[in-house]
Amino acid sequence: MTWETVRDLGRTGATIYGPKVFSRLLFLSRARGWRYLLSWGHRISGIILVVFLLLHIWTLSSLKDPDSYNAKMRLFSSFPLVIMEWLLAIPVIFHALNGGRLLLYEGFGVKDDKALVGWGMASGAGYVLLLGWAMVRGDQWVSTSLFWMGATLLGLASTGLMVRPFWMSYQPLGWRLQRISAGFLLVVVPAHMFFMHLNVAVGHDASRVMERLASPLMKGLDLAIMGCVVFHGTYGVFSILSDYLGTRSARVALALAIGASGLLLFWAGLKVMIP
Ligand code: HEM
Repeated sequence: MTWETVRDLGRTGATIYGPKVFSRLLFLSRARGWRYLLSWGHRISGIILVVFLLLHIWTLSSLKDPDSYNAKMRLFSSFPLVIMEWLLAIPVIFHALNGGRLLLYEGFGVKDDKALVGWGMASGAGYVLLLGWAMVRGDQWVSTSLFWMGATLLGLASTGLMVRPFWMSYQPLGWRLQRISAGFLLVVVPAHMFFMHLNVAVGHDASRVMERLASPLMKGLDLAIMGCVVFHGTYGVFSILSDYLGTRSARVALALAIGASGLLLFWAGLKVMIP
């Protein structure tokens, strides 16, 4: 089946056999608009990131027993898991760049979606390929302090840009803080993923991880990133689930349950960083 046939069938809404997922996506984008697909993509990638966050804190919690941490990391160095780790860059960078597009739209009224999506796709593909290259090489070196000084300054500048338009809005406090934290995460999450894969030992050797965490500046930065990620992610799960709840009391119960889970998660992360 040619691309033109799929496109025409997508337009008419007819059932297409063959590349079902793609034809279904194409049909939905025709019927509901591609913003609908992007918004579902954003939700799904957000949930994937929350699940990954849980796994990440669980693996890091074994740092107190370096042998067990190194054994887990040896498992993560097996070919299928390296490929899975690389593929994880796709939801991460999709969520980050599409989130950036939403911030520009909601906070600054930038509506040139076609150009933004085009730039986003090109830079997202560039990021995934560059990360793949770094993972295959696994032997790159950068100065930790220079890299993180640059990333932190950029992250703070991006957060600063978000404060005015979002803090002044009439939305609930959680909504506003979620957008402001997104400004910081937009820079530091892709930077973190890239940094950890520049050199295999950086993230896979317990003594190297502990050495980095021993620096008060790195500890402070990692705590700030973790705090923002946990708040942003748990508020995101709350906002998705509350769409399906009809009553105010159900939403309050959900907020309490998710707030408590977020605190527990933060506590688990804190124990990793301050043993
Ligand atoms: C990497 C930088 C990130 C940026 C720029 C970003 C941006 C955003 C934005 C702007 C929203 C609001 C979307 C809307 O409702 O209109 C959002 C929602 C969400 N984010 Fe993020 N985010 C980032 C990282 C993360 C991370 C690391 C997690 C998980 C721990 C996460 C989980 C979520 C979830 C679950 C939602 C709710 C999804 C939805 O309502 O569509 N995000 N993000």
